Amino acid sequence: MEIPRKYSLSPIFFLILLSFAIFVVLRRGRLLEFTVSKTAYSVPLDRLRTKISGENHLHAVGYSGEYHRNKSSIRTDGITIRKVRKVEQRLAGARAAMRKAASVSVEERSNLTAATITHDGGDHRYVPAGAVYRNARLFYRSYLEMEKILKVYVYTDGELPIVHDGPCKDIYSIEGRFLHEMEHGAGAGRFRTNDPNAAHVYFLPFSVTWMVKYLYTSLSYNVTPLKQFASDYVRVISSRHPFWNRTNGADHFMLACHDWGPHASRGNPFLYNTSIRVLCNANTSEGFNPRKDVSLPEIHLYGGEVSPKLLSPPPDSTPRRYLAFFSGGLHGPIRPTLLHHWKNHDEAIRVYEYLPKDLDYYSFMIDSKFCLCPSGHEVASPRIVEAIYAECVPVILSKYYVLPFGDILQWEAFSVQVDVSDIPRLKEILSAISDNEYRKLKEGVKAVRRHFTLNRPAKRFDVFHMILHSIWLRRLNIELT
Ligand SMILES: *[C@@H]1O[C@H](CO)[C@@H](O)[C@H](O)[C@H]1NC(C)=O
Ligand SMILES: *[C@@H]1O[C@H](CO)[C@@H](O)[C@H](O)[C@H]1NC(C)=O
Ligand SMILES: *[C@@H]1O[C@H](CO)[C@@H](O)[C@H](O)[C@H]1NC(C)=O
Ligand SMILES: *[C@@H]1O[C@H](CO)[C@@H](O)[C@H](O)[C@H]1NC(C)=O
Ligand SMILES: *[C@@H]1O[C@H](CO)[C@@H](O)[C@H](O)[C@H]1NC(C)=O
Repeated sequence: MEIPRKYSLSPIFFLILLSFAIFVVLRRGRLLEFTVSKTAYSVPLDRLRTKISGENHLHAVGYSGEYHRNKSSIRTDGITIRKVRKVEQRLAGARAAMRKAASVSVEERSNLTAATITHDGGDHRYVPAGAVYRNARLFYRSYLEMEKILKVYVYTDGELPIVHDGPCKDIYSIEGRFLHEMEHGAGAGRFRTNDPNAAHVYFLPFSVTWMVKYLYTSLSYNVTPLKQFASDYVRVISSRHPFWNRTNGADHFMLACHDWGPHASRGNPFLYNTSIRVLCNANTSEGFNPRKDVSLPEIHLYGGEVSPKLLSPPPDSTPRRYLAFFSGGLHGPIRPTLLHHWKNHDEAIRVYEYLPKDLDYYSFMIDSKFCLCPSGHEVASPRIVEAIYAECVPVILSKYYVLPFGDILQWEAFSVQVDVSDIPRLKEILSAISDNEYRKLKEGVKAVRRHFTLNRPAKRFDVFHMILHSIWLRRLNIELT
């Protein structure tokens, strides 16, 4: 693996600028026309966010008379314009199909949901249904439209090690797993396009974890090199290709699980304010905007794999010995309170700072009814996904955290959210959940498990597809509530 002297992009940047300058000089008229005509087909994504629900009607936005406004101004690059128009037309079609799904009356919907048979085995026949979804029918429609339509262009610009690769082990593994799936995976094959003019969204395939590894000076707390890298990357792709400028990055996305993903995105004001940022660190009080950004689940893969214990949790008939479990360092604003009140305090609530060597973390998870998931240094916790794998009902203890896939999933149906101020009453709150309610919550956890599962290659409705679906919704500019 070669290590860049500073940023792997900057040496080539001059060459790019130079060739671009020549390009501009040679094809000036055409470029100018291109710029002028862009308003004829670009949709200002950040300004349109349509709400769609069972009761509300969706106003289709993408395709409008705008395209025909002035034939002479879109004559410029006929093929490009035709493609863009087609792209927008198909999106408008998807919105219309979703509007239809949403306008089904509540009664019809409950009939349909009741009639839907949930197939658990074959992924190809899975039909979302049940209380874990905010609107299962609408989600299903949206998902099918995504499968039919969505095309992602992955920029080929940039070099290893920071671009086109990411970590596939340890706490930030979702970064590398998503990136590899998107670039090379069989599951992603159907979504990736090599024709940028046919794409609906554009992926900036850099890894913030690798930026930290290769550009950050240990203990300096200086994130400028990360911002600089992101800024350089956007400069390169926006000067080489016309796509970024068309929407100021609104149809572009970056993905980062590292805590400093938001810092890196500050390198370019549009990347921060306009682009779709897919982040584990989804802290609303630090600029995370759920209307355009996507909350990414954090998945801890020790050695690159999910622990076998989590892959096959015990059957429901096996009683779980503990009411609740937590083990973890004293990081961030919430854990000190949790440890203060519950460490070595109660036989039923097993709260450890560091687990004694003779005890096993995952064995506790599969032997507890509830798994406590407090935020650490940052809002996201890998415990949420681990708990779901372990079929242990997650107890969310966080502030300002936007939960993953919250526009699709009804978190209340498979988790418990406890206000940080109620931590002293934790046992009381969890004990008050009746057996029947608990059974429902656990059924809910089992029902959403597929949506948090990592597969190689990716499978329908798994975590890769859920992330992509969240991006799809933001590109469609629709809120599914
Ligand atoms: C269309 O473009 C032509 C040539 O640029 C211009 O003369 C005309 O006024 C434009 N029409 C409209 C409706 O903008
Ligand atoms: C819902 O199902 C009931 C019983 O099968 C039927 O009588 C009713 O007409 C259905 N309602 C709608 C809106 O389809
Ligand atoms: C996009 O905009 C930037 C900044 O205004 C400019 O430097 C760049 O040349 C533009 N890119 C294209 C392809 O026109
Ligand atoms: C985002 O937009 C706001 C308002 O225009 C601006 O003040 C802020 O600097 C932008 N953020 C970044 C990181 O560029
Ligand atoms: C979320 O952001 C706020 C504001 O910066 C900060 O005080 C808080 O500690 C963050 N939450 C976590 C868990 O890091």
